[in-house]
Amino acid sequence: MKEKVLVIGGAGYLGSVLTGRLLEEGYNVRILDSFIYGRRSVEKYVNDNRVEIIEGDIRNIETVHLAIRDSSSVVLLAAVVGDPASKARPEQTVETNFLAAQVVASSAKLAGVKRFLYASTCSVYGVGSEILDEEAPLNPVSLYAKTKISSEESIMGIADRNFKPVIMRMSTLYGWSPRMRFDLVVNTMTMTAFTEGKINVFGGNQWRPLLSLTDAAEAYLKVLQSGPKRECIYNVGSEEQNFIIADVAAQVAEGIKAAGGKDIPVNIEGESVDARDYRVSFKKIQVELGFKVKETIADAAAEIWRKLESKEIKDPKQKVYYNHYFDPSEELIG
Ligand SMILES: NC(=O)c1ccc[n+]([C@@H]2O[C@H](COP(=O)([O-])OP(=O)(O)OC[C@H]3O[C@@H](n4cnc5c(N)ncnc54)[C@H](O)[C@@H]3O)[C@@H](O)[C@H]2O)c1
Repeated sequence: MKEKVLVIGGAGYLGSVLTGRLLEEGYNVRILDSFIYGRRSVEKYVNDNRVEIIEGDIRNIETVHLAIRDSSSVVLLAAVVGDPASKARPEQTVETNFLAAQVVASSAKLAGVKRFLYASTCSVYGVGSEILDEEAPLNPVSLYAKTKISSEESIMGIADRNFKPVIMRMSTLYGWSPRMRFDLVVNTMTMTAFTEGKINVFGGNQWRPLLSLTDAAEAYLKVLQSGPKRECIYNVGSEEQNFIIADVAAQVAEGIKAAGGKDIPVNIEGESVDARDYRVSFKKIQVELGFKVKETIADAAAEIWRKLESKEIKDPKQKVYYNHYFDPSEELIG
């Protein structure tokens, strides 16, 4: 029988891409999601007998318990994601990112799942001048990062002989997804180039590790298929994609040109409102799992540009594409 992976947050930006890759690899997938940003990303699976879709909220213990039963592995992605979104919805952030995450992990442990993967973030490092590995001190500069650290600690705290969670501290993601987000730096720059004919960068000297969605999904597959036999934390990304934001803008402009777009001017002005500034070491995942990235920022910007040109998304300024100012009472139109 095929293994069933429960992807919690499977309708999200990463979850919808990971679901597609899991199916390609021959897994069955159960998605648990409250569809904050709509269900369009998973509609294509409604009649697919390899996929089971459960609409539910992980803040409901009964829902969590039922969804985990008979899943061989669990990937916890669901969260209020990003510093601005967690600032806008602080109660929901603590309930989902911390309290519910503990229930999910405890329930997965009790059910005896084979693997438990928890989506954390390199934002836990916040600010740092060294290249930061998994042992480096944490320096959260947002509620989002604080809740992720608290969850990491509580999940690692219940590890034992049979329950060996893997914490995935991911770089900032980029690329096209069935659940698109235009509030992530590469995607925002490409969208602004498309709608305004320019890229605006505030500050520009702050360091950030970046990773494509497709490479992120490969990292999850690697851990599911041949991950460590112990509980463990990985930084997920690659050292060649630690960039300052001004360089990210230059690569986005290069990608747009390669996609047949025009020359996009990059305006660097003022100061960044985002306090994060850090470079990260990815040696551990590279050495232990042989993880290497394949996609570049320019490749992803080119793809996003083409999708916008072909009107796959009619209005990229719609609130649903921005976690921080989306109000669930609004309908997805375009
Ligand atoms: N996107 C990035 O750059 C990035 C970087 C590092 C880490 N991460 C982590 O990866 C994970 C996925 O991020 P994403 O970019 O796909 O975010 P996303 O906002 O697109 O997806 C989150 C999904 O979780 C669902 N969800 C939220 N609260 C829920 C709840 N209470 N119950 C059930 N479902 C709920 C939402 O409906 C959504 O489909 C998150 O844990 C995030 O912290 C993302």
